[in-house]
Amino acid sequence: MGYPIVRMRRLRQNELLRGLIREHQIRPEKLVQPLFVCPGEGVEKPIASMPGCSQMSVDRLVEDVRSLRDHDVRSVILFGLPEKKDAVGTSAADEQGVVPRAVRAIKQSVPDILVWCDVCLCEYTDHGHCGVLAGDRIDNDATLQRLRAMALACARAGADVIAPSDMMDGRIGAIRRGLDGAGFENKIIVSYAAKYASSFYGPFRDAADCAPQVGDRRSYQMDPANSDEALREVALDLEEGADMVMVKPALSYLDIIYRVKEQFRVPVAAYNVSGEFAMVRAAGQLGWLDAEGATLEILLSIHRAGADVILTYHAREVARWLNGGR
Ligand code: PBG
Repeated sequence: MGYPIVRMRRLRQNELLRGLIREHQIRPEKLVQPLFVCPGEGVEKPIASMPGCSQMSVDRLVEDVRSLRDHDVRSVILFGLPEKKDAVGTSAADEQGVVPRAVRAIKQSVPDILVWCDVCLCEYTDHGHCGVLAGDRIDNDATLQRLRAMALACARAGADVIAPSDMMDGRIGAIRRGLDGAGFENKIIVSYAAKYASSFYGPFRDAADCAPQVGDRRSYQMDPANSDEALREVALDLEEGADMVMVKPALSYLDIIYRVKEQFRVPVAAYNVSGEFAMVRAAGQLGWLDAEGATLEILLSIHRAGADVILTYHAREVARWLNGGR
């Protein structure tokens, strides 16, 4: 049976019908806003390559989180800009560091929001790599202890979700055992399971001051040419105890999101990264495209591919748009 009995346009006639059959929707509670915490007080330093995003001291950050909460965003993920860096990222595990202080302040002032902590050493090491070095190589197993210490500092401060983004082998198991051993068996681990060595992280490395001083991240982050390998990464992280797995970046990796969801049927997150954000905002500022329309379309595509949760710098504005521009 076909045309003229079947007419696909029948269900597209008006917004009532289109709304009725719409399969996917962007909702603020499915979005996670990344935030950059820096030392000091009253600091709000705009990030040039990420319009609308700033590095914020704890006091400003709490106000920002309150406003996100008022717009129905229910999760934030924190990245720290520490006061001190060294070769092994000691300050990452400091309970008085910027991230643990921010977690405590948020939990006290805005309790009904989920606080995620990105766990990785690159913001805390003076060489900018995600692990500790042995000569010019990353020492995988020595890094695990540092990551576990960092995860514990975040957990003790009250973080709800621990999100390791370093791509060391065995880190999910190491962190899970560390958390369980300290009585934190209910803390959630969202693993950056399939994280690619991507050019789309450029603006973030300015924002978080974490570009590698020598070399690149290709010995630990994945090769963009591979997809079967992503499924192995996900399988291992689930075996080691990850509660949710992430694909990162999102837009150039929709096929990976789709395959991970199809194969594992577990909660999947996707990270719509800084470069993906910057492209849309820059073109929008130039008047080359409608940034609001493009943003919603991009987020829908990530959701449609199979992501349940999206980490995105657009969260704040999308929530505002969805709330009728308040
Ligand atoms: C740290 C980390 C990075 C991002 C999140 N966590 C940068 C990197 O791996 O170089 C990128 C986020 C973004 O670009 O928005 N390991």
